Amino acid sequence: MWCAFFLCHRSVYVCMNSILLTFLKQKTILMKMPLLFTLPLCLGLTFSSQLFSGEEEIPQYVSENGMVDKGTYNGYRRFHGTCHACHGQDAAGSSFAPSLVDALKDMDYAAFTKTVTEGRQATSASGAVSAMPAFAADPNVMKHLDDIYRYLSARSDGVVGTGRPKKIPKKK
Ligand code: HEC
Repeated sequence: MWCAFFLCHRSVYVCMNSILLTFLKQKTILMKMPLLFTLPLCLGLTFSSQLFSGEEEIPQYVSENGMVDKGTYNGYRRFHGTCHACHGQDAAGSSFAPSLVDALKDMDYAAFTKTVTEGRQATSASGAVSAMPAFAADPNVMKHLDDIYRYLSARSDGVVGTGRPKKIPKKK
């Protein structure tokens, strides 16, 4: 996302420069014609840079002296609003569902979002079905998925322990 913004800003900036330069150089109306061409070109560049930098930025947690950023803290709260019922307190796992502290060690962001959005079902050898519900239709989860990921990856990296993490105080 930020990458797209960055590219986008850059091309707008470059674009503005070239427009200004053309204005300064050209004197007659006729000679301003190139502007008509550069403008759509710039717009096109801006859009395509957004379209083609399709790679999604992976949400990162921030930790300072054992405290975490707002997003990771929010992730803690959201996780314990919905997911902990199956995945256990502090994501440590329960008899219903696996530990996500372990799962995130070898699961990437794309696989994580796919699993939570679409859900998953597995049938064990004994015939027991374990089901991870799909949360695509749950705005309380979808809106905070990045924060939940931040929290879980911080847990998985051992940066956040059990219990409620402390928030980094606002800088004055
Ligand atoms: C109703 C119980 C339940 C709830 C609620 C639930 N899960 Fe799950 N989840 C499961 C089960 C069961 C599995 C294992 C599915 C399987 O065996 O394939 C699972 C698997 C997963 C996996 C894959 C783990 C792995 O090892 O591959 C992720 C990631 C996950 N859940 C995230 C979440 C998140 C985030 C939430 C909260 C938004 C959540 N789950 C809520 C039951 C649940």
